[in-house]
This record gives sequence, structure tokens and C-alpha cells, in this order.
Amino acid sequence: MPNLPPGPSSKLGTLIRYLRDPIGCMVPLAQRYGDPFSFPGDPPLVCTGDPAGIKAIYTAEPDTFAPLSGDLSVFLGQRSLILLGGAEHRRLRRLTMPPFHGARMRAYGEAMCRLAEQRAADFRRDQQVTVHEVAQQISLDIILQAAFGVSEPARMAELSRLLLDLIDGISPLIALFPSLRRELGGVGPFAAFLRRQRRLHEHLDALITAARAAGPRDDILSLLVHARDEEGQPMTDEELRDQLILLVVAGHETTAISIAWALYALHRPENAAALERLRAELAALGRDPEVEALDRQPYLEAVCQETLRRYPLAPAPGPRKLLRPLELMGYTLPAGVGVAAAIGVAHFREDVYPEPLCFQPERFLERKFTPFEFLPFGGGARRCLGAAMAFYEMRLVLGTILRRYRLRLASLRPDPGKVRAANVGPAHGVRMIVEERLA
Ligand code: HEM
Repeated sequence: MPNLPPGPSSKLGTLIRYLRDPIGCMVPLAQRYGDPFSFPGDPPLVCTGDPAGIKAIYTAEPDTFAPLSGDLSVFLGQRSLILLGGAEHRRLRRLTMPPFHGARMRAYGEAMCRLAEQRAADFRRDQQVTVHEVAQQISLDIILQAAFGVSEPARMAELSRLLLDLIDGISPLIALFPSLRRELGGVGPFAAFLRRQRRLHEHLDALITAARAAGPRDDILSLLVHARDEEGQPMTDEELRDQLILLVVAGHETTAISIAWALYALHRPENAAALERLRAELAALGRDPEVEALDRQPYLEAVCQETLRRYPLAPAPGPRKLLRPLELMGYTLPAGVGVAAAIGVAHFREDVYPEPLCFQPERFLERKFTPFEFLPFGGGARRCLGAAMAFYEMRLVLGTILRRYRLRLASLRPDPGKVRAANVGPAHGVRMIVEERLA
């Protein structure tokens, strides 16, 4: 490829480095090769963590890019907005966006706190809990209730089983090797996956039909069913089904990982002062604070921001493929190449975040960062659709757990993180011991 920034030449070697240390591997690459640098691949991926480079990507005309997500439509559906580009992406995004506006989140606040309380109610003194698993159950409960308005335990359990069955059914073999995606007379992992997919689709289709027949409600499904595009057209049943699956897939593992990282970081001995300051802030709220009071706590918010900075979920989120040349920091990148804003570099710049490896929530109280310096939810036309929901949920669930329990880490060994499907999460799920239930 002509005139690409320098970078490592071995695709396999770079992949192994990434798998070993997904959060830490990006900064050394930028130090060695400069910023921007290229990841070898087909197509090669040009990464930048420089705010000027990130700005060039996020403010470019949206039609400069197509998504670079490979062929995932067999798993997520042909009409999943994360896989579409251009006018189709814009239309579906406009239709799917309204339930996720900041103000609408308030409708889900009570349920978020209640569902977190319910799952944490099982904690017993001296018990060891894997907080990533607990946070995952809480996030799944929350997204199911918010998306479908389902709150009866039996219906919630059934829907949650069907969705988790589908996600678990995506074996690495069929995800990595499209040639293995064959039904083979009903045997093998792909045939099993298709059976699970059919069961889930039948269930979702029934929920969509019921939501169309019912009057407007507060849940996301109802809002999506009644949404209209500029021509006054609703989403088709297939579009609705694909967006619902995407919201659950994109929405529950991500937020759960961030909550688990927050608990991990706060309970490291070197961050004891941060935990103490947060506990004091939460204690000052009294016995039964309003959800809105919990939401308004500045240090809780700063802790969540610092968690998203220090433990990015996607060191290079949503790589995009160039459909036309792009000027990026002195390079004219040709069509066909991939580009990515490298959070794994941007969030660790010494000049923006002094002592970048230290967990210091105070930095978010002391100054504001631009969207090209702090970008946990990506940016531009494909910025995370659930960002407001995720950030609200993080604050409420973390605040609720810390108000109820005193915990400690079961092991003080540093956790470098591990690649989990498309995200980077704690390697061992963060095991903690329940020390005390607070009155
Ligand atoms: C802490 C939790 C989360 C983090 C850190 C996160 C992060 C991200 C990132 C980095 C992207 C790619 C953005 C880009 O390419 O520029 C993304 C996309 C997306 N996220 Fe999230 N996310 C979180 C939670 C959620 C939740 C709760 C939902 C929905 C319920 C959600 C729905 C989506 C969707 C639909 C997209 C695709 C947007 C598009 O392509 O237009 N995410 N997220």
C-alpha cells in the first residue's frame, strides 16, 4: 500500500501482543512507530490517538466511511444498524435514537436501582463473588426491562435465556471461519446456532406483534414500533428485530465490564483515598436517597469517567473503511484502507492525562476534556447509541452496590484485561469478598 504510516510488519505477532495485553499494547506501538501508525492486515488499519487525528476522523463527512465489521450479518441480522453504512445507517439510527436521549433515561432510573438491589441481595458475609458476572446479570435485567417492558420474573428469565443462548451459540469456529457456516443436515455448531436463532426470532416477532397491537408504552420496543422516518414509514418487523438484538448484545456486556472495572480500580490499595471519598459522598445522601440525588453526585460521576478512561472497552473502537481518500496528519490515506481512533493511545497521553496509568477521578473534576481526548463511546456519526444509558446505569448501579456493601478484592494481582468477544474486560471477572452489609 502506498504512503501508509509505519507500523509493525507481522500480523500474527501484533495480534498476539494485542491478545496478551489489549489495553497496554497500543502506547508502545505509538511510541515506536509514531502517531499515526499502521496495523498490518487486509486491509491495513491506520490508528491515531492524537486529538488532531481523531478530530479528522470524527468530523469527516460520514459517507467517507463504511463499517469495517466483517460479515457479522449472519449473527446480528441483515438490517442491524451497526453493520450498515450511508443513508441506510442514518435512517435506522434516527429511528432508533429517541429512546436513548439523556432525558428519557430518567424513566429507567428506578428500575436500574431496584434490579441492582435485587441481584446484590443474595450477597452473604465472607462470600466470594465474581462482580463481572453479577454486573452482567444486572445489566441484562435492565436492558430487558427497558427494551421490552418485561418485569415478570418468568418471562424475563425466558427472554434472557433465549438471548444468552443465541450469544453463547456464536462459537469462535463459526465466527472466525465463514466456510464452516454450513447446516450439514442439521448437525454441527452452525445448525445449532440457526435453531437458537429461529427460536429467538419467533419469540421477538410475537413481542413485536403484541407491541404493534397495544397502545404506546414507555419501553424501547414500543417507542421503536411507533417511530416514523422522514417519509412517515415505520421500521419493518425485520428491522425492529435486528435492532432489538443489537441493543441487547451491545448493551449488556459493555456496561457490566465497566462496572466491574470500577469496583476493581476502587478497591486496589493504591486507590484507597478514592474509595473513601466516594463512600463519604454516598453516605452523606442518607438512608433512601432519590434516584436523581444519587445521579447528581460529582465524585461518583468522576469515578465512572476515570474508569472509562483508564479501562477502555475498545482500545480501537469501530474501525472504519475508507470509501474515498482521507487527509490524516500529513498522510493522504487511499480508499480501501481502515482507520480507527485509538482510545488505547488517546486515553494514555501524558500531556493530556499526567500519570496516565494512575486511577485519579479528580482529573475529571479539575478540567474538561474534548471529545477527541476522552472518547470511551467513540465518536462522529457512529458514536455509541447507548452512551447516555450506559453512563447513567454505571452511576446508579455502582452507587447502589457501594451504598449497600463493603467489599474487598480476593486477590491483589494486577489485572491486565482480556479480550472478550469484541470488548476488553477483566481477565478473571474481578473476584471480591463480601465484608459487610451496610445498614
Ligand atoms: C459502558 C458501556 C458502553 C461502552 C463503553 C460502549 C462503547 C461503544 C463504542 C466505543 C462504540 C463504537 C463507536 C464508534 O465506532 O465510534 C459503540 C457503538 C454502539 N453502542 Fe455502545 N457502549 C456501551 C454501552 C452501550 C449500551 C448500553 C447500548 C444500548 C443499549 C449500546 C449500543 C451501541 C450501538 C447500537 C452502537 C452502534 C452505533 C452505530 O454504529 O451507529 N452501547 N459503543
